[in-house]
Amino acid sequence: MSEPADNQELACLISSLRMHLQRRERVGIRFVPSENLPNVTKSMTIERNVLGPEGDLFAESSPTAQAQNLEELRSAIGDCQRCKLWSGRTHLVFGVGNPRAKLMFVGEGPGRDEDLQGEPFVGRAGQLLTDIITKGMGLKRADVYIANVVKCRPPENRNPEPDEVASCEPFLKKQIDLVKPQIIVALGKFAVQTLLQSKVPITRLRGQWHRYQGIKLMPTLHPAYLLRNPADKKLVWEDIKKVMKELSSEST
Ligand code: URA
Repeated sequence: MSEPADNQELACLISSLRMHLQRRERVGIRFVPSENLPNVTKSMTIERNVLGPEGDLFAESSPTAQAQNLEELRSAIGDCQRCKLWSGRTHLVFGVGNPRAKLMFVGEGPGRDEDLQGEPFVGRAGQLLTDIITKGMGLKRADVYIANVVKCRPPENRNPEPDEVASCEPFLKKQIDLVKPQIIVALGKFAVQTLLQSKVPITRLRGQWHRYQGIKLMPTLHPAYLLRNPADKKLVWEDIKKVMKELSSEST
C-alpha cells in the first residue's frame, strides 16, 4: 500500500478507536480487559467498507448493526457471550410485542421470572406494567413493544454494571431503530440514563418530554420501584396520561 493510503487507513483506525473508547467512557468504563481486545494482526488489511458509514470499526459493520428486522437482529445476537451475564442466564430476553408499535417501553433487565420465561416484564413488576398498559392506557400488551437495556439477568437482580450496559446497549438502540416507535417510555434510571446519556436523577427527569434520536421519550419510575413505594404510583399515572395525550394527538 502507498504511504498516503497507509496514513488514511491509520487515521480511520484512530478515529474509530477514539469513538469506541468515548462510547465506553460515557458509560463509565475506563479500561479494556485484554481478552476483549479485537484480534488485529500486523497483516490485517482494513478495507473501507469494514469501517462502515460513520468510520466506526467497532459498531457499524457488525451483523447486528446491519439487521433489517427484529428477527435478523435476534439471530445476529445469537448465543451471546459478549459480557459476563451470559454464564448465569436461562434465556436471553430479547423483547416482545408489535414490531411496528407506536409505543415502546424500555426497562432495565430481566429478573428471575423473565429469565425463566424468556419474555420481558412477566414477573410482579411486569404485572404492574401490564396493568398500566391494559387497565390504564386501554391498550393490549401486544400493541406495544417491550425491551430492556440488558438482555440477560444480572445475578440476584443486582444493577447492571457499566461494561454489561455498554455491551448490550447497541442491541436496544437497534431495536428502537427497527421498531421506529413514536414514543418511548423509559422505565427507571438505567433505561433513562442509557438512552439520554445523562446522569441526572430520574426523579428530576421524569414527567418531562425528552428526545432520543428525534423520538419523544418520557422517563418515568420503574414498576419494581412502585412495588416498594406504591404511594408514587400517582406520579407514574401523571406521566402516562401525558403519553396517552401525545399518542392520541399523533394519531389525529
Ligand atoms: N424489570 C425490568 O427492568 N425488566 C424486566 O423485564 C423485568 C423487570
